[in-house]
This record gives sequence, structure tokens and C-alpha cells, in this order.
Amino acid sequence: MRRPKVLISQKIFGEAVAVVKEDLEVEENQSDTPLPASVLTQKLRDKMGAIILLTDQIDENIILQCPDLKILCNVAVGYNNIDIKACTRRRIMVTNTPGVLDDTTADFTWALLLTTARRVLEADQYLRSLKWKRWGLMDFLGHDVHHKVLGICGLGRIGQRVARRAKGFDMEILYTDVSQLPLPIEENTGARFVDKKILLAESDFITLHIPLFTETTRYISTAEFSLMKPTSILINASRGPVVDERALVHALKEKKIAGAGLDVYEREPEVEPELIQMKNVVLAPHIASASYETRLQMTMMAARNLVAGLTGNRPPNLVNPEVM
Ligand code: DGY
Repeated sequence: MRRPKVLISQKIFGEAVAVVKEDLEVEENQSDTPLPASVLTQKLRDKMGAIILLTDQIDENIILQCPDLKILCNVAVGYNNIDIKACTRRRIMVTNTPGVLDDTTADFTWALLLTTARRVLEADQYLRSLKWKRWGLMDFLGHDVHHKVLGICGLGRIGQRVARRAKGFDMEILYTDVSQLPLPIEENTGARFVDKKILLAESDFITLHIPLFTETTRYISTAEFSLMKPTSILINASRGPVVDERALVHALKEKKIAGAGLDVYEREPEVEPELIQMKNVVLAPHIASASYETRLQMTMMAARNLVAGLTGNRPPNLVNPEVM
């Protein structure tokens, strides 16, 4: 019997390729550069499934040209790179990689928060440029983290992990979400539900853990910055377009907030040029889940989802179950 043909759109871990090859006929792009849309479309045309990365944009135009496609397996928990509605209309299964990256992303959120608050990058650059001549009482004064107020926007799996780490810093933890979460979650995280405006006004650190939807685009913009404390620091390791990047530049220039730690950007890999010049901003290239262990697990999940979907089983991480 002929095995279903699938595409692996960019370079992934060999362990995951091996899992896919056990059951499916694989075409691999060995490069870590995304294929241009026209090439991706042409390669997907005779395929029943694919493992794709968040840098592969799958829009309705591509979907309409790939009549055999049954399943798309994203190696990411977020799936804003895929037109889910168009996939569902065509009964294409879409899967993601929830859970395995929660702790790793929460760790990195904390890395950004501490690095920004305590000016670690500035200090590192100062020392490396051999400017350090003596200990200075007033050198690199930053912001305390312990006993401050942490505001978490989105107390989902990652937000909860961030909150649990905050307990070790004796912080007061506020959260906002579409609605108040069940008591056991609040007790476990120590987080108190408040309205978004109260969170923005009372938090010393505001960290974003919300998915990107039309409703969450520019969730933080000029009006939100105007509510924040001038000493506050914004952390974003969710999705770039959740923050209005121009408004962020303005807020930093006007000292409406004190700093920002960012892993994601509105138009990745482009970054507002003014952010790059700012010393009170820490910038990372979308690496919050980038530990060896986690990226491998994410890739293995995508491989298992693909094999399940094309061997008559329900993929474990289906994001559009209505196609079944
Ligand atoms: C995701 O999974 O959505 C991250 O942005 C990349 O790990």
C-alpha cells in the first residue's frame, strides 16, 4: 500500500524525522530558512500532511491549492501563522504543541524580567568594554523585584508557571483574564483576579501571556501605557502584535514606563529601530521556548500528531476538533 506523502517544511530534529519516516513518505526541506509561499504551495500540492514552523504562513490561498491536505502540524503552541477557519472549512486538521514549553517559557520570562529590572545587559556591556575602574555605590541602580507587584495578563498554563515562580520572590501577584479562574488555580498560584485597568495601574512588572487573536491585537497600546506606573516594566514573551510597538517606543521615550523585556515583535524579524538603541530595553529573538529539551519535545509532538492524523487516529493536540 502507498504511504501518505508529507512535507517537513524546514530543518527539524532527526529524531522526529525518524518517527515520521516509520509510517509516511517524507519530503524534507533541509534548510532552516522558510520556503517562499509559492514554493511551499507547490511542495504541499501533492501532500496529505506537513510539519510546519511558525515562520511558515499558511493562508487560504495555499489551502485552496492543496486539495489532498488532511493535516498541518505546527511546531509551536501558538498557531496564528495558520488560517484555522479556512482549514476547518476544508476539514484540514491543525495541531500544536501545548504543555511541553510552559516551564521553559516561564523560566525565560523571568530571565527577561530580572535582566531588565537589574540592568544585567548594560552592566555586562560596560564591563566588557573595559570601562569598569572601581566599585561604585551609584552604579547600575536598577529596580527591586522582590516584594513588588507582578501583573500577569493571561493566567493560562504559562502565566500560572510564571506566577508560581513569583512566589519565591515574595511578590504580590495580580492577574487578569477573560474571566476569573477557578479557586484552586488562584490558590495554587497565589494570584488575585483584577480588572485589566487595575492591573496596569498597580503592577510594577506586567507580563503578557495571551494568545494572538483579532481581539488581543494591540492589547497594550497608548491608552494602556498611560495607566501604567512610570517605574513599571513590561515583559512580552507571548506574541509581538499583542503590543503596539510604536506606542511602546513612545511610552519609553516619554518615560511613561521604565523599561521593557521583549522576546517577540510586531513584524518579526523586524524590530522598531528605536528599541534597539534603548538601554532600558532587553531584546531577545523569540527564544523563550528554546531549550534543547523543550524544542526536541515540541518537534516530537508534532511528528506524533502527523503520524496519528494520517494513520486513522485522532491527533493528540488537535486545535480544531470540529473537523473530526
Ligand atoms: C510557540 O510555541 O508558540 C512559541 O512562540 C515558540 O515556541
